[in-house]
Amino acid sequence: MEVVIVPDAAAGGELIAEAMAQLLRRKPDALLGVATGSTPLPVYQALAAKVRAGAVDTSRARIAQLDEYVGLPAEHPESYRSVLHREVLQPLGITLDAFLGPDGTAQDIQAACEAYDRALAEAGGVDLQLLGIGTDGHIGFNEPCSSLTSRTRIKTLTEQTRIDNARFFDGDIEQVPHHVVTQGIGTILEARHLVLLATGEGKADAVAATVEGPLAALCPASALQLHRHATVVVDEAAATKL
Ligand code: GLP
Repeated sequence: MEVVIVPDAAAGGELIAEAMAQLLRRKPDALLGVATGSTPLPVYQALAAKVRAGAVDTSRARIAQLDEYVGLPAEHPESYRSVLHREVLQPLGITLDAFLGPDGTAQDIQAACEAYDRALAEAGGVDLQLLGIGTDGHIGFNEPCSSLTSRTRIKTLTEQTRIDNARFFDGDIEQVPHHVVTQGIGTILEARHLVLLATGEGKADAVAATVEGPLAALCPASALQLHRHATVVVDEAAATKL
């Protein structure tokens, strides 16, 4: 695992956007796995700036979703499909035709999860998966004690994650769904390059457990220790406990 400490979130965003741009120059139809949350926004902004400047072409790029709330209609502004459309696809000029995501509204959620794993494999696999990290060390929505070999499946959110995400639902935890579908840790580990970005002191404990702690289901992000090409980008605040 490679750990890169950058001065601040903007520097982390620029570094990862440049890695994505280099990948797209090498492989124009690369499949980029993207995450939601506040942390990756500087990455998407920096990559969109490169597109506007003509420094990278995203016309053949493909985007894959990491996780989704169960039961929120796709057009709900906080469904992750809507969020990614707003924050990633539109700024990068990529259409929904080049977007892969799990169906959180399916009648048969298990079948939808299995279909998504198959779709990822049929698309050739994720070339670069960007990850954030929860304060409890979760990646995607793989909460602590998730199996390290898990596949895409339904999960129940912890109270802490619902509290953390209530800010996207007018601060009202009652509006935060209890259930989600998420790429499993085993699914995530199949991406060819994993890039985890963590910023701010609130992530310092989770970063220390990920990088220096034992490989343990209690800290799902520690599974990155198993991957042959994992990069952890942290700002100075998130690196304070390393
Ligand atoms: C959610 C997402 C994760 C994300 C996490 C942290 O739980 N499912 O993919 O990493 O939030 O979000 P933030 O970056 O806003 O702290």
